[in-house]
Amino acid sequence: MNTKRREKLNSRPINRDSFFEEWPEGGLVAMKSPYDPLPSVRVENGLIVEMDGKSLEDFDSLELFIARYGIRTDRVTEAMKKPSREIAHMIVDINVSREEVLAITTAITPAKMLEVVNCLNPVEMMMGQMKMRVRKTPANQAHVTNVLDNPALLAADAAEAALRGFSEIETTCAVSRYAPFNAMAILVGGLSARPGVLTQCAMEESLEVKMGMRGLTSYAETVSLYGTEEAMDDGDDTVWSKAFLASAYASRGMKMRCTSGTGAEVLLGHSKNKSMLYLEILCVFLAKASGIQGVQNGSISCIGITTSVPKGFLAIAAENLTVSLLDLEVASGNDQTFTHSDIRRTAKLLMQMLPGTDFVTSGYSAVPNFDDVFAGSNTDCDDYDDFYIIQRDMQVDGGIEPIREDAAIAARNKGARACQAAFAELGLPAITDEEVEAATYAYSNEEMPKRNMSADLTAAHDFMAKGTTAADIALALHRGGFPDVAENIMNMMKQRVSGDCLQVSAILDDQMGVISGLNNRNNYQGPGTGYRLREERWEKLKTKDSALVPHLILEETGRDQYRTMRKGLSEGEYAEPGEADIVIGVSPAFANKSTGDEISKNHLRILEEIREAVLEEGLAVEVVKMYHTSDLTEIASLSARFSISGIGIGIQSNGRICINNKNKEVDEGIEAFYNMPLTAYSKYRKIGKQTADFVRGRPLEKCEESKPAGLTNYQLQMLRLSGEERQFINKNKKPCRLVFE
Ligand code: 5AD
Ligand code: CA
Repeated sequence: MNTKRREKLNSRPINRDSFFEEWPEGGLVAMKSPYDPLPSVRVENGLIVEMDGKSLEDFDSLELFIARYGIRTDRVTEAMKKPSREIAHMIVDINVSREEVLAITTAITPAKMLEVVNCLNPVEMMMGQMKMRVRKTPANQAHVTNVLDNPALLAADAAEAALRGFSEIETTCAVSRYAPFNAMAILVGGLSARPGVLTQCAMEESLEVKMGMRGLTSYAETVSLYGTEEAMDDGDDTVWSKAFLASAYASRGMKMRCTSGTGAEVLLGHSKNKSMLYLEILCVFLAKASGIQGVQNGSISCIGITTSVPKGFLAIAAENLTVSLLDLEVASGNDQTFTHSDIRRTAKLLMQMLPGTDFVTSGYSAVPNFDDVFAGSNTDCDDYDDFYIIQRDMQVDGGIEPIREDAAIAARNKGARACQAAFAELGLPAITDEEVEAATYAYSNEEMPKRNMSADLTAAHDFMAKGTTAADIALALHRGGFPDVAENIMNMMKQRVSGDCLQVSAILDDQMGVISGLNNRNNYQGPGTGYRLREERWEKLKTKDSALVPHLILEETGRDQYRTMRKGLSEGEYAEPGEADIVIGVSPAFANKSTGDEISKNHLRILEEIREAVLEEGLAVEVVKMYHTSDLTEIASLSARFSISGIGIGIQSNGRICINNKNKEVDEGIEAFYNMPLTAYSKYRKIGKQTADFVRGRPLEKCEESKPAGLTNYQLQMLRLSGEERQFINKNKKPCRLVFE
C-alpha cells in the first residue's frame, strides 16, 4: 500500500515524463562516456597528425575535417598543455577576458573541450555563457506556424511576434507544398510591423536554399550536422556537402546557421558508445570548421532523449556554451516541449534566459503549441505574461517585451491586410475580408475560415515555377497600398548586397542597423560590465498593465469625504475607563467610508461576530475607536485599560487583531489574522469566545490562518488599508465609543 503522499506525487505532471538510467554502451549517457576519447594532439608541419588518441590515417571524415579546418593549429600544442580545470577556471573568472579564453578554446580538440565543460556546475555553466556569448545584447526567436498553413493567420502572428521584439521569426509547413506561401506570409507580416525582422522557412534543403536565393526568406537555420559519419550518411550528407551549402548561402549575403544537438545520434542508432555531449561537441567543431557563423543547438528536436538521463540540462547548457567557446552565435534551444511539468520547463528555460544567449529560445512558439508545426515549444503564446513577469522579477532581458492589446490588434490586422493585398496583386487565391478579420482576433487556426487548399497548392507551385521573388512581392505591396512594407522588404534585400548579416550573430534593429558580435561585442567581465538594461528598455520590460499605482489609490481613498463613519455605526461619547467587561478598540480607518463598501461591511460584520460571541458568554462589551494611533499593540493595551476586566481586543482595518491583558506585566497578547479579507467570520467569533474565556482565566490559543494561494492579492489590500490607516490618524482626537444604530 502507498502513502497518500506517494499517490499524490504519482499524479503530478512530472511523473508523466519518461526517464532512463544511463547506458553508455547504447550512447544513453549525457556528458561523459567511458568510451569517449581522451584529449591528445600532435602537430607536424602545421598539420594535426594526431587528435584525441587517433592518428591521421585512422581519422574518419568528420575528424579529418575538424583537424584540417576547425582548430587553431598555431596554438594547439600550447593550449592542449593547459590542464582542463585551469581552462574551466578561466571561463568563469571575471578577471579573464572573453578574448583570452577564446585564444585557448579555439585551439583545443573536441575531447579536450569535453573535459573542460565537464568541470563546470550549472551556475558556472551560466557564468560562462554570460561571458562567452558573442553578441552583447541578447535576442529571441519565434516560431510562427499553424496546422492549416493559413497565410492570413501566419501574417498576423508574424506581425505580432515582430512587435513583441523577436529578432528572428521562423516558419515551416504542415503541408510542404505550402512552403513559399508560408515564407511569404511571415516575410510580409513580420515586416509590416517592424523593419529588420529576419525570417526563415525551415524546409528540405534544396527548397530552402531556393526560397532564400529569391529573398522569400532572409536567413536559414536547419542545416543539420551530426556527430558520426553514419548519422551524417543517414541524411545523404557529408561534411563537405554541408560546408558547400553554407557557402552557397554566404555567397548571396544570406545569414545562416546550422542545427545540431545532443541526442540526435542516439535516436538515429549511430552513437557508437559515445556520450551525447561528445558527439555534439564534434558537430560544433564541424560548424566552426565549415566557416558557419552560428549554431542552433541545445538538443533541439531530440530533447526528450537528453533530458531522460541524469545531467540532461547540464549537458544542454554545456553544448550551448561550447558554441560560444568557439566564438560562434548560439541559438539556444528551448524550442520543443519535453516535459509535462511547468516547474521543470521553467528550470530549463532559466539556464539560458538568465545568462542570456544570442537567441534565448531558438523558437518561442508565438502561436498555441497545438498550432506549432515544429512540435511545440518550451514556451508558447500562453506563456507571454509568465515570461514577461520573470523578466520583471529578475530584471533580466529575455529578448521580448510586453505590448498593449490595442497595438497587438492593430499589428495583427495590418499584417493580415498586407498579406491579403500581396496575394491579390500577385493573382493568388484571394484572402477574404472575413479571413483578415478572423486572423486579427484569432487564438488559433480553429477560428479561421477554411481555405481551398488545392487551389492554394496549385498557386504555390506556379508561384515558384514563375520564379517569383521578394522584389515581385514588394512591388505588389506597393501597388496594393502598403508602400512602407514594400520598402521594408526592399531594405532586407539591400542587406543581402551589403552582406552585413554575415557578421557573426547579426540581427537588425528598427532602423535596419546591424547589431552583431563585431559592433556589439560581448565584453562581460563582472558587475557593471557586459550587457546592462538601458533605462528605456527596463521601462518597457517592467510594464505590467494590471499593476496598481500605489499613490493613486491612496490619494483617492484619503479624501475628506471618506472620513465619515459608514452607515450602521456612529460616534458616541469620549471613552472612559470602566466601559464594559471587554473593550474592542478599533483603528482610525476602521469602518470608514473610504474602505469601500465590501470591506467596511466586513468591518461591521467582524465587530458583530466578536460582540455576539462575548455577549453569548454573558459578558458586556463596548467598541472604542482610536484616532491618535494606528499601532495595534497600543490600541489593544488602551482598550484593556478602558475595560473592567483589564482585557482588551485591538483590531486594525486590515483585520489584524491583538488581545491585551493589562493585569500582566508581560503582554499576553495574541496577534492573529494577517489578512482580514481572507479570514472567515467564524474565526472572529472564535476570538470573541476565546477572549471571554480568557477573562475567566483560560489561556489563549494561537489562532492563525494559512492561505498561501492568492496571498499577494490580500497583501496588496493590506498595503492599501495600512497606508490609509496612517492618513486618518488625528493626534489631537481622543478615543470615542462607537454606537451601533
Ligand atoms: N541534430 C541535428 N539536427 C536537428 N534538428 C533538430 N534537432 C536536431 C539535432 N539534435 C533539425 C532537423 C529538424 C529541424 C527543426 O532542425 O533538421 O527538421
Ligand atoms: Ca529555430
